[in-house]
Amino acid sequence: MTDRPVALVTGATAGIGAAFARELSAQGYDLVLVARDQARLEALAAELGGAEVLPADLSTPEGCDLVAARLAAPVDLLVNNAGMSLNTPFPRSSVEREELLLRLNVNAVMRLTLAALPGMSARGRGDIINVSSVTGFAAMMPGSTYPATKAWVTNFSESTGLLVRSTGVRVMALCPGFTRTEFHERAGIDASKTPSWLWLDAGRVVRDGLRDLKKGKLVSVPDWKYKMVVFGVRHAPQGLVRRVARTTRGRIGRGDH
Ligand SMILES: NC(=O)c1ccc[n+]([C@@H]2O[C@H](COP(=O)([O-])OP(=O)(O)OC[C@H]3O[C@@H](n4cnc5c(N)ncnc54)[C@H](OP(=O)(O)O)[C@@H]3O)[C@@H](O)[C@H]2O)c1
Repeated sequence: MTDRPVALVTGATAGIGAAFARELSAQGYDLVLVARDQARLEALAAELGGAEVLPADLSTPEGCDLVAARLAAPVDLLVNNAGMSLNTPFPRSSVEREELLLRLNVNAVMRLTLAALPGMSARGRGDIINVSSVTGFAAMMPGSTYPATKAWVTNFSESTGLLVRSTGVRVMALCPGFTRTEFHERAGIDASKTPSWLWLDAGRVVRDGLRDLKKGKLVSVPDWKYKMVVFGVRHAPQGLVRRVARTTRGRIGRGDH
């Protein structure tokens, strides 16, 4: 046992989750790293000079149970980051793939938040960051169900965060735009036409998110470009937003980010 704070990060083997692990380690946290690939988890733990590794598939009830059991012991920060996208328009998708998406992007976030939150509230401290996406703010990708999962994550985080605020616990949705990770390749999404100026660096996303958490924000949108996008989709006439959604989809690539 040490006096150092403990953070549990899901999806820690790559991309934004690995960037969280590196940043939190540098900030003095002890880490619990969760993902499916045990070898990659152990390699990251070694790079960080030691961390607890917890291999689990969060799209399964067993994987969620395992991580929920670990959260029964106090954790200061939970980062629900593991997530995926599909590269199939809904009418051509399958029940199996859509349920997989919902189990990982929605159900695991609900399960692990519910595992951590009561203890945090009772202790009067603790933080939860749920990694969502700018895509959750509007139906910007006709036919993709990924944004709907992220709309749930953002709304859920904001709603839960509002409820527990008075107990000293913070819950925040972190909503990045296009970020350079393995995400698009894993989903089979060709993001090669996405202009380079739209891409964010995972480390920068994480640092912005942690700064916004400290400020007490319920929803964090890293980078001024994406803040403007979110302002636009929230305040522009919805007919205009839908027209833009139909026309930009082809131009910026398949933008399931
Ligand atoms: N990249 C973007 O443009 C972007 C933009 C906005 C939001 N996001 C969100 O950011 C989060 C992180 O994505 P990323 O871009 O960093 O993606 P990534 O590079 O593909 O990393 C995904 C991570 O999740 C883990 N993972 C995947 N399926 C899992 C499962 N069933 N159980 C447990 N862990 C699993 C992967 O590790 P294993 O394969 O070892 O399990 C990996 O560590 C996601 O929630 C994503 O929706 C990404």
